[in-house]
Amino acid sequence: EKGNYRHFMEKEIHDQPEGCQRTIAAYVDTLTDQTTVQGVDFNAIDRIQIVACGTSWIAGMIGRYLIEQLADLPVDVEIASEFRYRSPALRPNALAIAMSQSGETADTLAAFRHCIEAGMKSAAIVNATESTIAREADVVWPIHCGPEIGVASTKAFTAQVSVMIALAIAAAKARGRIDEAEEKRLVHVLLEAPRLIAEAIGLEDALKEIAAEIAKAKDVLYLGRGPMSALALEGALKLKEISYIHAEGYAAGELKHGPIALVDEATPVIILAPYDSWFEKSASNMSEVMARGGQVVFITDPEGAKHAPAGAKVVVTAPASDPLISALVMSAPIQLLAYHVAVVKGADVDQPRNLAKSVTVE
Ligand code: F6R
Repeated sequence: EKGNYRHFMEKEIHDQPEGCQRTIAAYVDTLTDQTTVQGVDFNAIDRIQIVACGTSWIAGMIGRYLIEQLADLPVDVEIASEFRYRSPALRPNALAIAMSQSGETADTLAAFRHCIEAGMKSAAIVNATESTIAREADVVWPIHCGPEIGVASTKAFTAQVSVMIALAIAAAKARGRIDEAEEKRLVHVLLEAPRLIAEAIGLEDALKEIAAEIAKAKDVLYLGRGPMSALALEGALKLKEISYIHAEGYAAGELKHGPIALVDEATPVIILAPYDSWFEKSASNMSEVMARGGQVVFITDPEGAKHAPAGAKVVVTAPASDPLISALVMSAPIQLLAYHVAVVKGADVDQPRNLAKSVTVE
């Protein structure tokens, strides 16, 4: 039930601290601060192949940054509808991961079967544990966020990212890339995420005000670097699917290679830039955008707010977080922004036009 919320999407955004907490608790031991990921020997595989669609694909992309960085294990993330119809050079020693909230997405299932037929070990990250994708996998890693009703994925996304983070830590530990002390530190950081997500959700009133402005735009650009480049895609996807405003997400470094031509006074540019190793680069992209009259919404953290170039139309200060979990913490602001823009526009938030919750045909 929706409780006091107007829409399921709003409720599900607010459910995320709990959904992530339950998901994280399934993959770490909260007493010892160690990971408890079961079913895969991370030393018996030489790469990971993730197949997925839409928001689930974006969760996989965030996972790639973390797994490659921490565990030194190559990760490919591919849109399932492309993967299934090209001739990917598959190797049996890879681990195939299907990322699918519903576990029924036709393209993801077909791509996953391709991997299984090539002899790969297979793991399914699903919400629906009785689904076809779950049944066909060797290993099932459920997300534990509860059923998601809103067509636009929110709490399933952050739960998927939570699993990716736990996997990255587990793989790094198993492969000897981090020691036990570092594993404990990282798990401890992950366990902090639900509290920080709740704090970020607390920015709702400020985001509502920004949404009233964004609702007037025809086009919106989202930029970020590192995991924030993937989250930029997610911000744009959320906005377009529920508010019907045209939005594009880009890796900020691509700005000069085309999208900067779109920048003018009427195009809000949302830059996702926590104070991490990419910050200076993102801040200089912000200056480039402002020099061309772009209206910047700078979503950052307290340190980033301190170091941001002056001149942003608005700065949103999310809580400070370790880069391991910043994609989780920064998710809430982009979801709330999209949600409130859609509300301002009077759109049917939970049932956007032309979209289905589960895409069982290609
Ligand atoms: C966007 C959204 C979709 C799904 C996609 C995959 O908000 O919900 O992009 O992420 O259709 O669905 P699943 O995860 O069920 O395979």
